[in-house]
Amino acid sequence: MARPKIALIGAGQIGGTLAHLAAIKELGDVVLFDIAEGTPQGKALDIAESGPSEGFDGSFKGTNSYEDIAGADVCIVTAGVPRKPGMSRDDLLGINLKVMRSVGEGIKAHAPNAFVICITNPLDAMVWALREFSGLPHNKVVGMAGVLDSARFRHFLATEFNVSMRDVTAFVLGGHGDTMVPLVRYSTVGGIPLPDLIEMGWTTQERMDAIVQRTRDGGAEIVGLLKTGSAFYAPATSAIEMAEAYLKDQRRLLPCAAYVDGALGLKGMYVGVPTIIGANGIERVVDIKMNKDEQAMFDKSVAAVSGLVEACKAIDPSLA
Ligand code: APR
Repeated sequence: MARPKIALIGAGQIGGTLAHLAAIKELGDVVLFDIAEGTPQGKALDIAESGPSEGFDGSFKGTNSYEDIAGADVCIVTAGVPRKPGMSRDDLLGINLKVMRSVGEGIKAHAPNAFVICITNPLDAMVWALREFSGLPHNKVVGMAGVLDSARFRHFLATEFNVSMRDVTAFVLGGHGDTMVPLVRYSTVGGIPLPDLIEMGWTTQERMDAIVQRTRDGGAEIVGLLKTGSAFYAPATSAIEMAEAYLKDQRRLLPCAAYVDGALGLKGMYVGVPTIIGANGIERVVDIKMNKDEQAMFDKSVAAVSGLVEACKAIDPSLA
């Protein structure tokens, strides 16, 4: 059977890391696309040349032509401009909306059957716009945010409790921004919910509040340290986890920016929710129950995402 084809739209920091991870995990043949001439070609060749030592097979092609993504099974989109220090994800809106138009049209023309994972920020608005521009089914277009935000939360919790990161599960919902909702009640260590661990004296409410806030600021913390760009290792790993769930029909339960129409009281919008990813893309949005406080935080986050979508419509009336 032919190897799956993975098209990476954007060959910058995240795109290059995605290609490297896809190679090492032997997920399929990789096409790196970018508007910058030489960058995707150089990264593809560099990664291919690591094959003999690493011991993977597969083809790696860099390109500036959308024709080369033809028939891709998965497209992961990082094309656009990342945050600089002091910039919010929303500052990127106008620039990256134009990029989503060209990427959406490219995917529509050449890879209409792909499972599309968007990473470009501001995430929830960009994945919505990308779906609109591409015209692909809603269950095949999804945004990567919750897996990354949850991974950050899990890392901070594992450090706090001095336990393996593997034993920490955590849920972060809502928009990928300052209003994201880390759900403490649904997060556990080996199945023990965080509120119980506070009662057991493993940590305090104050320390938990600080971890929640650090999770919300997780992206900005990296931007502040790097100064010339934003996070790329963990974002790439998170998107690869989603791509693998689709390619291997794993039916993983992962928080993603998915199209929600009915569940969680939402009507036709993209926002971070628990989903099941399998061979049909987003197979299910998990309609969890939230308590009053969680619902209030989630509503605030949903309102922030809706505001961004309205801003997109104002910038590009064809989306209205
Ligand atoms: N089509 C294709 N590629 C494009 C386009 C376009 N219209 N416009 C820009 N690019 C390419 C750039 O040439 C660059 O190589 O997108 C790439 C982006 O790479 P980086 O600048 O290194 O950004 P990266 O760190 O990979 O982040 C990409 O993901 O997390 C988000 O906020 C982040 O929106 C940003 C995106």
